[in-house]
Amino acid sequence: MTNVRRDLFDERRSSRKTIDQSGVWRFREAVLVIDESTIVTHPEGSTRLYERDGIFFKHEGENPTGSFKDRGMTVAVTQAVRLGTHTIGCASTGNTSASAAAYAAQAGLRAVVFIPAGKVATGKLAQTLAYGALVLQVRGDFDAAMRLVLEASKRLGIYLVNSINPFRIEGQKTIVWELLQDLEWNPPDWIVVPAGNLGNTSAFGKALVEARDAGWIAKMPRLAAIQASGANPFYRSFRENFARRHRVTPETIASAIRIGDPVSFDNAVAALRATNGVVEEVTDEELMTAKRDIDHMGIGCEPASATTLAGVRKLRKAGVMRDADRIVCVLTGHVLKDTDAIRSDRIVEIDPDVDAVERALD
Ligand code: F0G
Repeated sequence: MTNVRRDLFDERRSSRKTIDQSGVWRFREAVLVIDESTIVTHPEGSTRLYERDGIFFKHEGENPTGSFKDRGMTVAVTQAVRLGTHTIGCASTGNTSASAAAYAAQAGLRAVVFIPAGKVATGKLAQTLAYGALVLQVRGDFDAAMRLVLEASKRLGIYLVNSINPFRIEGQKTIVWELLQDLEWNPPDWIVVPAGNLGNTSAFGKALVEARDAGWIAKMPRLAAIQASGANPFYRSFRENFARRHRVTPETIASAIRIGDPVSFDNAVAALRATNGVVEEVTDEELMTAKRDIDHMGIGCEPASATTLAGVRKLRKAGVMRDADRIVCVLTGHVLKDTDAIRSDRIVEIDPDVDAVERALD
């Protein structure tokens, strides 16, 4: 793959050039070699790494459209432009669609998105519409929308920008490289990621293998992929040592990962094997408790992202993770992505007088 020195990536962190400021294109030799003038970048990435209560949180919700999807989308849309594409398309639980719509708008392409009717958070749908995409609400779940867009893209010449598009994966590798860089290339023991369609899990495995092979890191972190227990086909397979592939009818409050038949299954298995990784499941109650805790740290995230902290708690209890282990949780989406999941019991309606304020404070 690449024999680039990591010092080059470090030097670019102080550059004022847009493609150097992008947390994706800063690693461009190992992402996609292409004429710089073709690159469609906001820029994206360069998100913060927070440390709270001894755990690191890489906040991918700080990307331009509020999720990690922008890291893959900048590469996929750049490739779409290079190919002379007119229309890009994807199935989505809401974040991919918002990202695809934004990058299509920037590149002057048409975006058509396939979403499960009634199962996408309102803000994500609004955001997708705002950027100008055509929204097809499919009567069925995400997996049905995914099957449909696969067929439609073949028949109608739509350029597919879901994570089975290898250019998406190339971009998402940089989440891992950037967090390693944030830690001055001193790898953590664990990288924890929410698992839905399994694109990110696949990308993280590829990123770690490449980082090791290039000599950027001396030690391999372990991956922990966390699923919601109501949408846990990958967890079920893991429990059987991946002897067979499971499919489930998904149900979870974390609508971003309400997926029963993930497309990147095989690559995710490879990622787990390459990193001696584990898969865990957490209930909606466990992930919502973790979400409130992350929100109350002043960081905030959407429900799917909080599977990470919930998963860490479970894996620590089981003795798989030790208290002294250095852990990075990847928060995949912004707190405002899913406002329906935020409790409103701390709103008190009052008349405009100070006595009412005093009563409310008691
Ligand atoms: N977290 C968030 C916030 C997501 O939006 C997604 C996936 C994931 C985690 C899971 O990542 O699919 O790579 O395993 N969202 C997709 C979408 C399905 O359409 O926005 P994954």
